[in-house]
Amino acid sequence: MVSRVIPVEEFDLVIFGGTGDLARRKILPGLFRRFLSGQMPAGSRIIGAARSELDNAGYRKMISEAIAEFGGKESSNTKGLEGFLQQLEYVAIDARGEGGWRDLAQLVRDDVVQAFYFSVAPSLFGDLAERLHTNKIANKNSRIVVEKPFGRDLESARALNETLAAHFHERQIYRIDHYLGKETVQNLMAVRFGNMLFEPLWNNHYVDHIQITVAETVGVGGRGAYYDKSGAMRDMVQNHLMQLLCLIAMEPPGQFEADAVRDEKLKVIRALQPIDHHHIVRGQYDAGPDGPSYREDAENERSFTESFIAMRCHIANWRWAGVPFYIRTGKRMKARSSEITVVFKDLGHTIFEGDEARHRNILSIRLQPNEGMDLQVTIKEPGPGGMRLIDVPLDMTFADALGDTVEDVADAYERLIMDVIRGNQTLFMRGDEVEAAWRWTDPLIEGWEARNDVPKIYDAGSSGPDDALMLMHRDGRKWRDIKG
Ligand code: BG6
Repeated sequence: MVSRVIPVEEFDLVIFGGTGDLARRKILPGLFRRFLSGQMPAGSRIIGAARSELDNAGYRKMISEAIAEFGGKESSNTKGLEGFLQQLEYVAIDARGEGGWRDLAQLVRDDVVQAFYFSVAPSLFGDLAERLHTNKIANKNSRIVVEKPFGRDLESARALNETLAAHFHERQIYRIDHYLGKETVQNLMAVRFGNMLFEPLWNNHYVDHIQITVAETVGVGGRGAYYDKSGAMRDMVQNHLMQLLCLIAMEPPGQFEADAVRDEKLKVIRALQPIDHHHIVRGQYDAGPDGPSYREDAENERSFTESFIAMRCHIANWRWAGVPFYIRTGKRMKARSSEITVVFKDLGHTIFEGDEARHRNILSIRLQPNEGMDLQVTIKEPGPGGMRLIDVPLDMTFADALGDTVEDVADAYERLIMDVIRGNQTLFMRGDEVEAAWRWTDPLIEGWEARNDVPKIYDAGSSGPDDALMLMHRDGRKWRDIKG
């Protein structure tokens, strides 16, 4: 079974960088699934554009191999694949020269939805945007899709925003943060704003603290050169973790509409307080049985870049004053596990004599793997022996609750690309949000650079450096175990 069909209009989608890694791993296999679910109207076209001298047949062959490798179980649908490939075209293009632009201009139609996916280095964004206009390919309704990294600090992000704004209106720009396309991330909004139960408790009267963990088992091998210039703060916190933080902390928007949601997220980012360096722990993984150390992976024996970071953040507003948000993310950790946990306060008073345990309600939202939620509640332990209380999870693992359908849940990329075609910007970052996020992270990065802060070495396959555990222990709290 494939996902529910929501009709979209006929479109031309041009993928600059159409032969690249992202296009082959994510974008085209995702579009293939959408084709199978009937969301690619007849006549719609996907046009790969890149430097390689390929013809349509060569490109179709490349993409059919990519789908065989990355397309999952749908890739065995050979009839479907044939139909999909017929909708692919290819143009060899020189982003910085004139080659290929006339061919592209002839292909792209003006009377259907037009989207241009810039799956290329940000240094080419300006050239592409300009040539799309000088060659009269883009029009005032065209949409462009850009990927992170969206700058490496406030200044470069501003420059990128200005480059794009010179040619496109903000309503035409779709900045992808693929975490916003994840099923459970959207569920976070459904849980918060679709239930009566949680909203009255979602504040500093009832919440003790919130934890956000995004742990990965992979290292940086293969992308060490890029990663060593960014580190976990730029690669994960400034975008993915901050987006999660926004969704968990924002005020209810007036409606589920792009600017209403993004206005509320922006307010959260602006309310983030500066962090004292004692509340930031940076780490670097050591060599382990499964792989080399960070420094070997990054091929930089003197690297001070962090592959792990943990921080205690505060949001200065009425709802969250005094509630710490502990966030952490790292590579080569003990399990791949992303989870948001809301820990509610202790009961002020117990009526059950002899019960000295600390009972707390804990809501955890698991983004990956085993997407789902559980709510820890306190009940009477069944059987004789009086009122003995135990804490049990009310577990809603989506795979159990929803059966088959969960397997067919769309990948983040395909969902987001279809939103581009539908013209829905709700799950995309607005320019001011990106800038506000850098405005908050820049001084933190500058702080540790000025101090020549050396990251703490942690064992590969662990939960990160001990100092990260101490970050919470000092406050009388502890991290949730990282379980895959
Ligand atoms: C990317 C980061 O944005 O997200 C990678 O650049 C990271 O370093 C990846 O591994 C994690 O994404 P996911 O979807 O696997 O959690």
